[in-house]
Amino acid sequence: MLLSVDRINAYYGLSHVLQDVSFEVDQGEVVCLLGRNGAGKTTTLKSIVGVVRVCGGRVRFKDEDITALPTHQIAGRNVCLVPEDRGVFRVLTVEENLKLAAQKGSRWSLDDIYAMFPRLKERRHNGGGHLSGGEQQMLSIGRALMNSPELLILDEPTEGLAPVIVDEIVAQLHTIRQSGIAILLVEQNLEVCMELASRHYILESGQIVYHADNEAFKADETVRDRYLSVGV
Ligand SMILES: Nc1ncnc2c1ncn2[C@@H]1O[C@H](COP(=O)(O)OP(=O)(O)OP(=O)(O)O)[C@@H](O)[C@H]1O
Ligand SMILES: [Mg+2]
Repeated sequence: MLLSVDRINAYYGLSHVLQDVSFEVDQGEVVCLLGRNGAGKTTTLKSIVGVVRVCGGRVRFKDEDITALPTHQIAGRNVCLVPEDRGVFRVLTVEENLKLAAQKGSRWSLDDIYAMFPRLKERRHNGGGHLSGGEQQMLSIGRALMNSPELLILDEPTEGLAPVIVDEIVAQLHTIRQSGIAILLVEQNLEVCMELASRHYILESGQIVYHADNEAFKADETVRDRYLSVGV
């Protein structure tokens, strides 16, 4: 198993936000973590990368216990989080943002990222603060790739984006998956989830309440209505 999250717990103050959350992501696999607003999805992602402290439970990456490691050391093991706010440096240009993330030995070069997202090439001298939401998301994904990820963690990458931009990003997520990178995806757009992922987990009030492969999830409208209250 590439990533194994084993009964992790997390708190904000006295509020017990994650309760024995367990799931796994295999090598090269796309896995979705679903759930309503406030279910604990972002907290789960932050717990994996060491931004939120795990109190009880274990996170293992490639059989190594990374639970108590500082964030930069987890990043150094090629676990990359693209946060919900995209984390683009606004005062740097697109190209500076990308170069800053470059890692020696990464199989993704600046040119690869520009080939993947031609818009970024067109806007390479623009400041990060002058990009549209979609362009910021592309930049954020591009930056993560320059970091040479083995596991790419995405928090709602299509949120608030126009359908045509969503399509562009989804197409590139296919390319990323095909290159062998595993993806842990938090996403509200179920069509995107069902197109990309091989398995799905649903979080509700900080607990995993459902797990299925993509076939079973697609066939199960009841579960989508019950836990996600959105029809597809
Ligand atoms: N920094 C914080 N301090 C205190 N409580 C927080 C903090 N961040 C999140 N919470 C609370 O923890 C719970 C889980 O939040 P989280 O952001 O993980 O949910 P989510 O599933 O990502 O939701 P969304 O779909 O809105 O992004 C919610 O009740 C939220 O209000
Ligand atoms: Mg969230």
